[in-house]
Amino acid sequence: MAKARVFNIVKRFSGYPVEQDFELVEQQLKPLQDGEVLGKTLYLSVDPYMRIYVRNLPLGSPMIGGAVARIVESKNPQFKVGDIVYGRIGWRTAFVSDGKDLTKATHLPADVPESLAIGTLGMPGRTAYFGLLDVCKPLNPGAVVLVNGAAGAVGNVVGQIAKIKGCVAIGYAGSDEKVEYLKSIGFDHAFNYKKVDIHESLSKAAPDGVDAFFDNVGGDFADTVILRHMKQFGRVAICGSISQYNLKPESEAEGGKGLFDAVTKGPRLQGAILGHQLKVEGFIVLRFADRNDEANSALAQWVKEGKLKWREHVTEGFENMPKAFIAMLKGANIGKAIVKNTE
Ligand SMILES: NC(=O)c1ccc[n+]([C@@H]2O[C@H](COP(=O)([O-])OP(=O)(O)OC[C@H]3O[C@@H](n4cnc5c(N)ncnc54)[C@H](OP(=O)(O)O)[C@@H]3O)[C@@H](O)[C@H]2O)c1
Repeated sequence: MAKARVFNIVKRFSGYPVEQDFELVEQQLKPLQDGEVLGKTLYLSVDPYMRIYVRNLPLGSPMIGGAVARIVESKNPQFKVGDIVYGRIGWRTAFVSDGKDLTKATHLPADVPESLAIGTLGMPGRTAYFGLLDVCKPLNPGAVVLVNGAAGAVGNVVGQIAKIKGCVAIGYAGSDEKVEYLKSIGFDHAFNYKKVDIHESLSKAAPDGVDAFFDNVGGDFADTVILRHMKQFGRVAICGSISQYNLKPESEAEGGKGLFDAVTKGPRLQGAILGHQLKVEGFIVLRFADRNDEANSALAQWVKEGKLKWREHVTEGFENMPKAFIAMLKGANIGKAIVKNTE
């Protein structure tokens, strides 16, 4: 009978997660029933949203997350042995599923690793695609696009799509190496936000202001941009606010009910939003799920044409999931942070 290793969440995070918040257990998997498949996990995703969403998971639950897997046994006619699938599999090395939450990764070009189905050709890529092309529209050639968290899984794709659409791409990330990477994939301007003054650097890079601001970070960075750097009728896509995720909101200490509680207080932004007639819109990529095929094929086509480059930060070994997750939250990754199951 097949076994799986699984990470459970056993303590509430307080500030940055620590390895002791997770417990690695072994599970015996049940024999397959009709309609079920047995999958072996190949690549697992570590994502910022996990930091927030687990607040409402009962302690002792398996960690949530996307992964890529190979079907190794099938009693479901929709899947055959050897199929590569992706879905919300969780932090586990093997699983039995009825297949409802699994999608075959048929959109991947032949010469790319299967792991791209959780990266540039997966949820992060689609987030960049819909956030930029739908939430930030209209995106005319020459428009100035600004993205923070730019060297990460979502951010690097945002900048590259902006370039594909003939826009000016400006990115901010947290190290000089990341800045070099952004320039190497075509960003027009890239800055290390830990070293430069945001207002000064942006005044030089975009003297006439920003048309579309794709915000992955929130906090002071976003305040500065919205208050001082948006053009009239500019668009702000609120994709994430990672600068706030590892701070300690009151509610987290109390057991954490609110997923997106404000942690720090900022300036009032309403005047700037009104004065510059901005459209500020939060979005969650699942909203566009009925258009996943459209995004998958556009992203895959750009990869095939060499217009969209991909990069991964790979941690080997399932037992290193917590380490990889914590390192990603602290900025260790360039491109998509993933874990390779080496079993
Ligand atoms: N709305 C949606 O549907 C959706 C979907 C996917 C992701 N997201 C959001 O998009 C953002 C990026 O996600 P991702 O998967 O692409 O992660 P990622 O950028 O690959 O990894 C996280 C990065 O965040 C940066 N970071 C950490 N703390 C920071 C801070 N205090 N200030 C500024 N940057 C900080 C680090 O890079 P540096 O070295 O540059 O600091 C780190 O590498 C996150 O906010 C995430 O929640 C939203």
